[in-house]
Amino acid sequence: MTNKKIVITGGNSRFGRELSKSFFGKNIIYTSRKQLDILDTKSIDNCLNKYKPNYLIHLASLSRPMIMHEKDIKLSIDTNIIGTANIVKKCSDKNIKLIYFSTNYVYPGINGNYHEDDPLKPVNNYAWSKLGGEASVKLYKNSLILRLAMTEFPFIHNKAFKDAKNNFIYRKDVIEILPKILDEKGIINIGSNKSESIYSFAKKSKPDVKPISRKDSKNFPKDSSVNIKKLRDILKKKIKK
Ligand SMILES: NC(=O)c1ccc[n+]([C@@H]2O[C@H](COP(=O)([O-])OP(=O)(O)OC[C@H]3O[C@@H](n4cnc5c(N)ncnc54)[C@H](OP(=O)(O)O)[C@@H]3O)[C@@H](O)[C@H]2O)c1
Repeated sequence: MTNKKIVITGGNSRFGRELSKSFFGKNIIYTSRKQLDILDTKSIDNCLNKYKPNYLIHLASLSRPMIMHEKDIKLSIDTNIIGTANIVKKCSDKNIKLIYFSTNYVYPGINGNYHEDDPLKPVNNYAWSKLGGEASVKLYKNSLILRLAMTEFPFIHNKAFKDAKNNFIYRKDVIEILPKILDEKGIINIGSNKSESIYSFAKKSKPDVKPISRKDSKNFPKDSSVNIKKLRDILKKKIKK
């Protein structure tokens, strides 16, 4: 599948489990928290010394429910900021290429179509914690930050905003893209080609989803869609090659 030796943190994450169905091989190592705890630098060392990867895909994170990041800021800071910084330091020591999963919610969520170099203003504590992780990754040049507008299939909620937009991309489509961009560096937005209301997106996979308004919710971003020209150009070049 690939000759790259890759260690993946958060191997039991929802994304990790789905990725492992098609992206596997003896050189791709999915680690559980028990094998590689991002808050335990010894366990990171042990794992990296054992497998000697040249790539590390960092999925381990505190993500859902997002409200956790408002309720328990210590856990959020530890996992997403300090845990990520621990990973960056070890990758830097061992010159391992680091791929970090961030979120499109680091953008302000107002006008949408955000480019990678647009100003940032995370929409909630989860996004701040992911941006905190990004800050340490960015110090290390042998790295790639993915700002994902990723979601699951089918749509998981019973209600969806009719007046909020995004260009959500399903995990399965991210899984197709990921192996093609492992050698890229810097920041890449990952979303679908189509920016639309969350309600119209949701209806396609969950026909009985109910429309709701942002007015009924506290601070839900109006438009978090991302510009994916950079990603498209990279993929086009790959096809040409
Ligand atoms: N909507 C999305 O899915 C979305 C969108 C954009 C970005 N992302 C990013 O994509 C990545 C994967 O998301 P996901 O939703 O698939 O994640 P997830 O299902 O919430 O799983 C997170 C994983 O991190 C592990 N973890 C937590 N603390 C750890 C620690 N101290 N050491 C090692 N592992 C630890 C957990 O281990 P346990 O199983 O032991 O608890 C769990 O397997 C995350 O970085 C997330 O922020 C996701």
